[in-house]
Formats: sequence, C-alpha cells, structure tokens
Amino acid sequence: MSASWPVALVTGASSGIGETFARHLAREGSQLVLVARRRSRLEAIAAELRDEHGTSVEVLDADLTEPDAVDRVARRLRDADRPVDLLVNNAGFGSHGAFADTDPVREADEVRLNVIAVQQLAHAALVAMRPRRRGAILNVSSMAGFQPQPYAATYGATKAFVTSFSEALHAELAGSGVTVTALCPGFTRTEFADSAGVSESVVPALLWMSADTVVDAGLRGLRRGRAVVVPGVGYQLTAAVSRVTPHAVTLPVVATAFRRRLSRDAG
Ligand SMILES: NC(=O)c1ccc[n+]([C@@H]2O[C@H](COP(=O)([O-])OP(=O)(O)OC[C@H]3O[C@@H](n4cnc5c(N)ncnc54)[C@H](OP(=O)(O)O)[C@@H]3O)[C@@H](O)[C@H]2O)c1
Repeated sequence: MSASWPVALVTGASSGIGETFARHLAREGSQLVLVARRRSRLEAIAAELRDEHGTSVEVLDADLTEPDAVDRVARRLRDADRPVDLLVNNAGFGSHGAFADTDPVREADEVRLNVIAVQQLAHAALVAMRPRRRGAILNVSSMAGFQPQPYAATYGATKAFVTSFSEALHAELAGSGVTVTALCPGFTRTEFADSAGVSESVVPALLWMSADTVVDAGLRGLRRGRAVVVPGVGYQLTAAVSRVTPHAVTLPVVATAFRRRLSRDAG
C-alpha cells in the first residue's frame, strides 16, 4: 500500500491517542519516528509495528518540557536527508484544581509541553516542508480550547493556543502544498484521565470516545486538509455553540460544574 505520508513523526506515541496514531499510520504503510519519555514503551511498540507491518520505526526518547530535547526532535524534523511528511504534535497533559493551589512548576511544564514544544516543532517541520511544497502537521488540541476552563485554567488556555495557532497557520499556508490541522477531541479513553484528574465515573458514559474513533477522524480531516477537526456529532454541536456563545454566558455554568466536581472529588 502506498502511504499518504511516507514518513510520520508522532510525539506522545508511548500511549493513548499518539500510540493509536502510530498504529493506524503503520497499518497504512508509513515509516515512523516515535517520540516520548518512556523509551522502553516506545521500543516495545516499535518492535511490534516492525514485526506486524514490516515498516521502519525510529525511537527518540525526549522530555519535551526541556529545550534541549525539543531541539533534538526539531533537528530530526529539519533533516533534509530523511524528510518527514507528517508531524503529529500530540504529547500533552492536563492539570486541574483552583489555580492558586496548583504546583507552579508543573503548570509551567504544561505550558512548555502543550504550547512551546508544539510551536517549536511546527516551526522546524514547516522550515523543511515549505520548500518541498508538501507536508502536513496535525496538532492535537481539545474541546477544552473552545472555552476558558475554570479549575483547569492552564490546560484550557494551552489548548486555546493550539487551536488558534493551527487555524492561523492553516490560513497562512493556503495553496502552499502544506496543511496544518487542529484535532479537538472530547473525553477519550487513554491514560490522560489519570494525569488530568478526570475520573471516568463523573463523566457520562455517552461522552467517552475511543482513541481509534478520534484518530480515524483526525486522519480523515488531515486528508481533506481541514483546519479544525472535532470528532463526534455531539462534540461538533457543542463546539459550534461554544464558538458563538459569549464567554460571559458560558463561564458561570462551566465554573459551577467544575466547582461541584471538585467538591465531589474532595468529599
Ligand atoms: N484523553 C482525553 O480525554 C483527551 C481529550 C482531548 C485532548 N487530549 C489531548 O490528547 C493528547 C494525547 O493525550 P492522551 O489522551 O493520549 O494521553 P496519554 O495516554 O496520557 O498520552 C500522553 C502522551 O504524551 C507523552 N508525554 C507526556 N509528557 C511528556 C513529555 N514531558 N515529553 C514528551 N512526551 C510526553 C506521554 O508519554 P511519556 O509519558 O512516555 O512521555 C504519552 O505518550 C494530549 O495533547 C491531550 O491534551 C486528550
């Protein structure tokens, strides 16, 4: 099978949505560069994908909150001898709680990973892709980016950045042969819930999606060159409403819901 993207680099490929992107892309014949901190997990996934699909898989262990590690991945993206056709900027985590009670070091890491790494890697990818007039970047954002998130303030703000940044680049690059897409999932069953402090039991079952559904929607949107992809009809409606409703109306409702959830979790 000839792959839509002969070589794809996926960050956060050691679990969840990133691992699922790696599996779908390997099945379609892409060669892969897998990036995350847990090298042993990346090696295990890489060995499985080489075995199953006969594809080449490189592993880069990198903590993308660290500028040197981001530089290392950026150099791989700029390497003219080994061009990358698709960058999936997926690594990310979420924190929650009243902002003043959060750990400021972890909050800063969240910005470094969810924002700075995404921006720097997108820059490196575009420097290489633009002269070739070919390539795609998919930035994994979130439904949380459509609306400020009281009690998850940093997370919501990082994802608002990712969506806005992606839409702006999508417009800048119109007609260039290179596309940039923001993928905005809602609740997705991965390891994310542990870090974000979302217990599956407090979110109605109907709202949870599988990583496969999210990745299928992301790849479909990428092929169509979409600026923003929201997987699932229910979430598409919510996103449309969020985009047109003034924050002054939605914020008190969101704040109350989060406050209730926090006090239920605490109690
Ligand atoms: N799950 C959801 O409900 C949901 C909803 C909307 C958006 N998202 C977004 O989807 C993306 C993927 O999340 P997920 O749900 O798949 O969560 P996940 O299962 O926790 O995966 C997160 C991935 O990011 C990597 N990562 C975390 N910190 C890193 C660091 N400092 N440097 C490099 N890699 C790092 C992790 O690998 P290592 O630990 O090995 O580094 C892991 O591979 C995130 O951007 C998240 O914000 C998730």
